Amino acid sequence: MDYSTDYTTHVEATVELFASTFTASEGAEEGALIGALARRLIAETPAGDLRVFTAWEDGTLVGGIFFTRLTYEGDPRTVFMMAPVAVATAHQGKGIGQRLIAHGLDALRREDVDIAVTYGDPAFYGRVGFEPVSAADLPAPQPLNQPQGWIAQSLTEAPLTPLRGPARCVAAFDDPALW
Ligand SMILES: CC(C)(COP(=O)(O)OP(=O)(O)OC[C@H]1O[C@@H](n2cnc3c(N)ncnc32)[C@H](O)[C@@H]1OP(=O)(O)O)[C@@H](O)C(=O)NCCC(=O)NCCS
Repeated sequence: MDYSTDYTTHVEATVELFASTFTASEGAEEGALIGALARRLIAETPAGDLRVFTAWEDGTLVGGIFFTRLTYEGDPRTVFMMAPVAVATAHQGKGIGQRLIAHGLDALRREDVDIAVTYGDPAFYGRVGFEPVSAADLPAPQPLNQPQGWIAQSLTEAPLTPLRGPARCVAAFDDPALW
């Protein structure tokens, strides 16, 4: 498997990966929402606030993850949120998701990011180090519809101690439908 961080040359393939994967798993409406989110994240997020990791097999895009910056007004630590995550439907269940996430987290660790947070199934993301956190300890930028899915991990030796908010996300995530 090959990895890439270049999100500018494969915009349409990336948007299509997210739209089709979420259409297959959650239905057409969610597919359209997440496809549009992927497009907006690429088009509107300042480069310093965005990291995209994609996985390729024989020239075919098989997986992608986005990380965007979360800013905590009262805390100097660097925090990135991993979302959304997609592995092409035909390639799921082969370990690609876990390998791609581990690769992305390693890259963030190398650039001294302190904390990664995500919003999803703790059973799956627990396999790559995420643990449940409360929105009191790690404030979310929007009210959480599924607070049990708010999970995080320290990327340094330091323990994950509470972050002082308020929290701010990048513009593309400023939509209550995504939370
Ligand atoms: C969730 C997802 C990214 C996992 O990627 P993957 O490459 O299929 O996962 P891996 O092969 O690394 O890991 C497989 C494990 O993940 C779990 N898993 C797979 N899909 C899952 C899902 N939709 N929800 C919860 N857990 C899931 C299974 O428990 C599986 O474990 P098993 O092998 O013991 O059965 C991928 O299935 C996907 O894109 N799903 C649709 C979109 C989505 O739900 N994205 C995440 C929300 S942002």
